[in-house]
Amino acid sequence: MNPTKTNRQTILVCLLAALAGLLFGLDMGVIAGALPFIAKEFGLSSHHQEIVVSVMMFGAAFGALCSGPMSSSLGRKKSLLLGAVLFVIGSIGCAFAHNVEILTVSRFILGLAVGVASFTAPLYLSEIAPERIRGSMISLYQLMITIGILVAFLSDTALSEGGHWRWMLGVITFPAIVLFIGVLTLPESPRWLAMKDRHELAGKVLKLLRNSDKEAQNELNQIRDSLKMKQRGWQLFRHNSHFRRSTYLGVLLQFMQQFTGMTVIMYYAPKIFEIAGFSTTREQMWGTVIAGLTNVLATFIAIALVDRWGRKPILKLGFSGMAICMGILGYMFHSGISNPTEQYAAVIVLLIFIVGFAMSAGPLIWVLCSEIQPLAGRDFGVTCSTMANWIANMIIGATFLTLIDTIGSPNTFWLYGVMNIVCIVLTILFVPETKNISLENIERNLMRGEPLRLIGQQIFKATRPGTAAAK
Ligand code: BGC
Repeated sequence: MNPTKTNRQTILVCLLAALAGLLFGLDMGVIAGALPFIAKEFGLSSHHQEIVVSVMMFGAAFGALCSGPMSSSLGRKKSLLLGAVLFVIGSIGCAFAHNVEILTVSRFILGLAVGVASFTAPLYLSEIAPERIRGSMISLYQLMITIGILVAFLSDTALSEGGHWRWMLGVITFPAIVLFIGVLTLPESPRWLAMKDRHELAGKVLKLLRNSDKEAQNELNQIRDSLKMKQRGWQLFRHNSHFRRSTYLGVLLQFMQQFTGMTVIMYYAPKIFEIAGFSTTREQMWGTVIAGLTNVLATFIAIALVDRWGRKPILKLGFSGMAICMGILGYMFHSGISNPTEQYAAVIVLLIFIVGFAMSAGPLIWVLCSEIQPLAGRDFGVTCSTMANWIANMIIGATFLTLIDTIGSPNTFWLYGVMNIVCIVLTILFVPETKNISLENIERNLMRGEPLRLIGQQIFKATRPGTAAAK
């Protein structure tokens, strides 16, 4: 990467947009620590606790569903602003909730915000970043998610002494306000502007963010070319089999990310430490913080490698590592953990699993999902994949404890191990390598009917104009 002035400007823009990920992570991470106190104050049954937790994922799926049409009509920037406003309202609502109904509604509003953020931020980043650093810029978003989760774990640990659950949930208002102010300074996505026929403004934004006017003009020409496709969103999905393929791939990718088992570890880390023999709450809380820290640090590996090694090799490596770790953990739980050496060995395997996820599927699935969709269907395609993330997240979150109770810990972990092996096969068969290729190039390959795993190959001058026409 050439660290010129323009690039620095792009990185700043990307960092600000990635702040949305921080809010996503904070809200995902905070509930684990706050829940016991909330349950005590309102006298909640397990069922009510499940509702308080899962209503946010439900809101996120719904928020992602609404984000497609919204970001397509209002633009990426206004959608992010609305997301920030929802974060503020939801956090204040949670902090002041005097009964469980208000808390539930506020958590739903937070869910909407998370849905909007998880849809809009990676999409915006993919549309703003130049191709040579696109992977690492979208990975910044995942880095922010992991930092959010870690900070939430830390604040839970710090505030748990006095049981200050209202503060745990309420402090999130402050980063939400920072997000709002930050987004106000962002330029609109040049691709969205071009889609709305505001080509001159799109050109201006590109000139601001690229190294030369020539580079900006070339990119604008490519964007215009991909806008020759007249159908949009749902219409395109109904009539264009190529677009259906990329939409299904996005959904598959997000299911793969969730079925690695990482979400289970993020939601139930204390429980897993308990299974591994750490019986005090203090040990479990600190174990959880270390897991969160590992998640943050290992995301840097992805940021450093994604635009050099490419997406596919890193994904294969990550899934393989996760499969092996799940296999070993299953074995350890099967043979029983009876002494401190075995306890720490289990923790190390768990941390290696987290490294496997954070350097691969964590960031790269978001990267790929926002890269593979054609411009005319990007909002629709990313809506479907983001919704899939939240639906799979709900399924995983709601089944883990039941799985442990019915088939036992060893089998549950082996099951996740097998799912990671399936993910390796799916990566080999269907995932394209999109490193260093423009979004428009990927789109042309897709619409020419190339197999999905080949849509990231470079097209040289041979491309005929208009090949992107709807099939
Ligand atoms: C995933 C979450 C996961 C988190 C962990 C995100 O990319 O979508 O489900 O818990 O990463 O870092």
